[in-house]
Amino acid sequence: MERLLCTSGPLRGIITMPGDKSISHRALLLGALSKGTTEIQGMLESEDIHATWECLSTLGTNLRRSRNVIKLDGVAGGLFQPTSTQLSCHNSGTTMRLMMGILAGQPMKISLTGDSSLCNRPMNRVADPLRQMGATVWLDNQRTAPLTVQGKRPLLPISYKLPIPSAQVKSALLLAGLFADGETILSGEIHSRDHTERMLPQFGVSIDALSTPSKAPSLRIVGGQALSACSIFVPGDFSSAAFWIAAATLVPASDIQIRNVSLNPTRTGLLSVLFRMGAHIEIEPICTLPEPIGHLRIRSASLKATDIDPSEVPFLIDELPMFAVLASQAEGISHVFGAEELRRKESDRIDTLSAQLRSMGGNIETTPDGFTIQGKTPLHGAAISPNGDHRIAMAFSIAALIAKGETLIRDAACVSVSYPNFYTDLFTLGYTS
Ligand code: S3P
Repeated sequence: MERLLCTSGPLRGIITMPGDKSISHRALLLGALSKGTTEIQGMLESEDIHATWECLSTLGTNLRRSRNVIKLDGVAGGLFQPTSTQLSCHNSGTTMRLMMGILAGQPMKISLTGDSSLCNRPMNRVADPLRQMGATVWLDNQRTAPLTVQGKRPLLPISYKLPIPSAQVKSALLLAGLFADGETILSGEIHSRDHTERMLPQFGVSIDALSTPSKAPSLRIVGGQALSACSIFVPGDFSSAAFWIAAATLVPASDIQIRNVSLNPTRTGLLSVLFRMGAHIEIEPICTLPEPIGHLRIRSASLKATDIDPSEVPFLIDELPMFAVLASQAEGISHVFGAEELRRKESDRIDTLSAQLRSMGGNIETTPDGFTIQGKTPLHGAAISPNGDHRIAMAFSIAALIAKGETLIRDAACVSVSYPNFYTDLFTLGYTS
C-alpha cells in the first residue's frame, strides 16, 4: 500500500493513542504465566502484539476478547503445553527476546523465527546470559534467528552485568529469573524502560531495586515466586503520541490534545528534548502508579537545535527517527551521540532515516553511533522507502505535512506493526488531502 500526502493546514482536535506496545506485550506474557484469568484493558491491537498473542496461543494459553477487554487463562504452574514447537515472532523483537527468557525456564525445545528484518537482529545478547543460566540456545550464525531454546527448570541464578541499556535483554533475564533456583541479580546498564519492573508486582512478584552509595544500582529477583492473575490497564503509547507531538509542533497554527498517554519517565525523553528546543507542550498528570499517565496539549512552535547525549538515548530510542525530522526544522546544528543501537532496530535506522531525510532536502551527516543535522532546511516532497520500518514510515509521513509538494510513502501498511490507525488519526486531526 502506498500513501500520497501533501502539505497540511493546521492540525486541531483531541485524540487518544492506541495502547502502549511494550506494556501490552508484557501484560500478555505475564498473564500467560499466572494462575487464574488476567484481564487486560486498553491493549494495543497491532501486528507486533498479535505475534505475541499467536505465540502464546500455540504454547497453550487460552486468549479471548470480551467486548473491550482481553482475557487470558494462565497455564498451570507456568508450564506450557505447546501444540507446535515452531513459533513465528513476525517483525517483533520484543516478542522474540522476552519469549526467549520465558522459554529458558520451560523444560522443552521450541524454535523461534521471524521475518527477514527480525532474522537480521542480534539475539546473542539474550542467548549468552541465558546459557549461563543453564538453558541451551542454538542461534543461526551464532547471532540471529531462526533459533531454538531448550529450556530447563530450575535455571541457575546468575549475577549479570548488562553491557547495553536494552529493556528487552533486561526483561528477558528477569523473566528467566522467575524460574531460577535463587537470586538473579542484574547490574550495569539497567536504566532503560522499566515496564517489566513495574508490572511484576501487579502479578504478586517482588523485585528489588538495590542501590547503595558504595555499590552500583542493581535489580534482584528471587526465582520460584508464583504469579497470580490480575487486571492490567494499558495507557496510550507515548511512542505513537510522539508523531502527533512532532506534527503539532511543526505544522503552523496547530493546537491538539492527546489524552491518557503513558508518561513513564523511562519513555518520555523526547519531551525533555523538545522543551530544550522551545516546544509548546502542556502536561496534565492524572496518575503515577503503577504507570504514570496524563494528558498533553501541543501547540506549534519555532524550534532551536539541541544535542542528545548517550545517557538520554535509552529514554527516546524509538523517537529518534521523528527527532531527525524535528531537528531539520530547528535553527542550528543538532547532534545525536551514542545511539548505535539504532542500527539494530527494525531497519538500520541511521541509514534509513538519513537517506529519506536527504531525499526531502534535509542536511544530515551520519556517524557510526548517530547523526548531525543542520537546520533549518525547507523540505520538499519525495518518494519515501521506509524499508518495512513502521517508525520510519510514520516519521516521514509527518515530514510530508510540512514539505512542499507531494510525498509518496511506499509500503505505508507497515505502520500496522505498532499503529494500525495512524492514517485515520491523521484525518481526525483535520488533515485533508
Ligand atoms: C522495547 C525496548 C526497546 C525498544 C523496543 C521495545 C521493549 O528495545 O526499542 O521498541 O518493549 O522492551 P531495546 O530494549 O532493544 O533497546
